[in-house]
Amino acid sequence: MSLFKKVDELRSEFKQALASSPALSDLERIRQDYLGRKGVINDLFKKIREVEAERRGEFGELINQLKLDVHDRIEKVIETHRAEKIAKSSVDVTLPGVIYQRGSLHPIEQTMRDMKKLFHRLGFSVAEGPEIETQWRNFDALNFPPEHPARDMQDTFFVQNGSVLRTHTSPVQIRLMLEEQPPIRSIMPGRVYRNEAIDAGHYCLFHQIEGLYVDENVTLGELKATLELFCREYFGEDVKLRFRPSFFPFTEPSNEVDVSCFLCSGKGCRVCKQTGWLEIGGCGMVDPNVFDAVSYDSEKYTGYAFGMGVERIAMLKYGIHDIRQFFENDVRFLKQF
Ligand code: PHE
Repeated sequence: MSLFKKVDELRSEFKQALASSPALSDLERIRQDYLGRKGVINDLFKKIREVEAERRGEFGELINQLKLDVHDRIEKVIETHRAEKIAKSSVDVTLPGVIYQRGSLHPIEQTMRDMKKLFHRLGFSVAEGPEIETQWRNFDALNFPPEHPARDMQDTFFVQNGSVLRTHTSPVQIRLMLEEQPPIRSIMPGRVYRNEAIDAGHYCLFHQIEGLYVDENVTLGELKATLELFCREYFGEDVKLRFRPSFFPFTEPSNEVDVSCFLCSGKGCRVCKQTGWLEIGGCGMVDPNVFDAVSYDSEKYTGYAFGMGVERIAMLKYGIHDIRQFFENDVRFLKQF
């Protein structure tokens, strides 16, 4: 039989072998028979020399084509087997995978980070203190007289040994000034506690960011400029700042800080209660009595301090109407940030 005929024969034998829809294991055997090192196609390659010289090229091409076809057909059948297996199995691998929920930063943490970042750019370092404080740091050193109403049970949570849950972050000012000499330029973020009736605007704990700058010749103008810069960066370019005279025992003069309502551009709306202004904190020039308490030379140094409510700022920024939402940790609320 001519070798050419042999090729034709192998081709039809192969077709027949596949026609009986062989199992995967049979397919592997067929592959070995045809394409293996000792398979029939390799045998043909070895016999190229036996073909008459002028037809060798043609013969070579023919067996090459056979080899490729056999390979492709076998792959195709294997692929069909695979698809059938997937279709039959109870696991549907084409279903989308399980989506795992990723956590996100709590809006208060996010707000504090944003605020810290801005003050960092203005040259403020970060200092922290404990949430349980002595009455001396929370009140006395900050120039609260012994009978001041803020010391009352109504406002303050007392803990053992006459300590208190700090009612503001201002005691961290005292810690800082006892540890370091001027110049000081720090912010002090943290949690504070007040024994207040809970409603949409008040909670028994919240966060403040305190600021303190002490050096020679620090002025009220610098205080206002710093807060103005912060507010413009944080709330928007067009925001205006307003200082209203106020009172804190540890600053003199003292001010409440308002920003122009960035929701209605100062025209008056529900959030600013038609006033056009939103209160964000208190501030003032450090009272010389505070410098005396930490043995700073109150003749030589002046300083400013400010304290802002983080929840209040976050509520304004994100349009949240109830402070309690920050503490309920309802994922439907938290997921939005
Ligand atoms: N500690 C004050 C408060 O909690 C805020 C404040 C801080 C005011 C610093 C002036 C200076 O109300």
